[in-house]
Amino acid sequence: MDVFSKIDLNNTPKHIAIIMDGNGRWAKKQGQERLYGHSIGVESVREALNACKRLGVKYLTLYAFSTENWNRPKEEVDGLMNLLVQTIANEVDDLNKNKVRFVTIGNEEGLPESCKEELRAAKKATEKNDDIYLILALNYSARWEITNAIKNIAIKVNQGEIEPNLINDELVSSFLTTANYPDPELLIRTSGELRISNFLLWQIAYSEFHFTDVLWPDFKEEDLFKAVLDYQSRERRFGQTSEQLT
Ligand code: IPE
Ligand code: IPE
Ligand code: MG
Repeated sequence: MDVFSKIDLNNTPKHIAIIMDGNGRWAKKQGQERLYGHSIGVESVREALNACKRLGVKYLTLYAFSTENWNRPKEEVDGLMNLLVQTIANEVDDLNKNKVRFVTIGNEEGLPESCKEELRAAKKATEKNDDIYLILALNYSARWEITNAIKNIAIKVNQGEIEPNLINDELVSSFLTTANYPDPELLIRTSGELRISNFLLWQIAYSEFHFTDVLWPDFKEEDLFKAVLDYQSRERRFGQTSEQLT
């Protein structure tokens, strides 16, 4: 039986987040430059998106560039930004065909002007689609996001618009760049690294984690299905006992 047919389609995550990792190592194994790995990684984005569509997943968040990634060699950073601009321009028609709504999270202000323009255009061009959200985390870091939220809440408190006693989970969530999306039920990281690297720290409080050794450019639809099967084998207790759930 293939992996897809083992999945219970009534119990799929609404939101899957992926830390796409391992492009550099994949390229090195092929005797190629790191940027070649990033460009082949674009095909895996298509695979993940198609797999999510087949499962009826409503939100797919992809960690594409972290705030810390600015510390990479300039050549790689420039290459990644160019790849981003080109890929988005190339993909908009297909996104529309597949009714994908393209959005981003992160500190967009800090991106090069050419990127910002392309991003704005792609968001606008896909804003009417509602089959699935493709949420690209760009210049994103969870600590930046949380710090920013605290700052903005403090400003509103100062202006008398927010009563400090009324600050709760929900209010904090509404100040994050993910305010319009539910928390991911499933977080996947490829390439065998067992860490979060400053991704969605607030939102993954109760996410299930799936780590795979597969390097991102090798990631196929079937790998996403395997992750969802793994997710379906978990008992999500949210602090309760197993007995309470049954
Ligand atoms: C992930 O692959 C892509 C980005 C962080 C942009 P890496 O570039 O981190 O690949 P490795 O981890 O060096 O193999
Ligand atoms: C995390 O991967 C960021 C993205 C996938 C965009 P990294 O490869 O940058 O993470 P570290 O540095 O190994 O933790
Ligand atoms: Mg990496």
